Amino acid sequence: MKELRIISALGIIAILLSGCYYDVEEELYPSIDCLTDNMSYANDIVPILTTDCYTCHSAAANFGNVTLEGYGELLQYVNDGSLLGVVSHASGYSPMPKGGAKLLDCEIEKIAVWIDDGALDN
Ligand code: HEC
Repeated sequence: MKELRIISALGIIAILLSGCYYDVEEELYPSIDCLTDNMSYANDIVPILTTDCYTCHSAAANFGNVTLEGYGELLQYVNDGSLLGVVSHASGYSPMPKGGAKLLDCEIEKIAVWIDDGALDN
């Protein structure tokens, strides 16, 4: 009987501890919301391109004869579907960033929503 009580006490402690651990973990890693309201070319899209694409697609670099720097330049790749195609690694498109890690889901989502909203120069 005594052992049984000790075992169940240990079991309860284990449950409590794992409960606490779980709480702490949730505080440390909150689920990150992807905010896609009011997407802006200047504030949301250009920063992604600057970090992941301009190394090769600035006006000066122009790799593959593709310049994404400047709204007018970018718009032609929006309109022919290749901007979203390359970043989402859709079949038939050369996956971008070339040789690098795929953009974060949230970044792809932001580009998709911005395009869906009319790809404004905002
Ligand atoms: C390391 C250099 C490099 C990086 C970084 C890079 N690209 Fe490219 N990109 C290229 C090259 C080279 C081509 C020419 C086609 C090929 O080789 O696949 C190309 C082609 C393209 C094309 C034309 C594809 C087609 O099917 O005609 C688009 C659009 C494009 N890139 C968008 C992007 C975007 C958006 C990013 C950032 C998320 C990016 N690229 C990052 C090198 C790069």
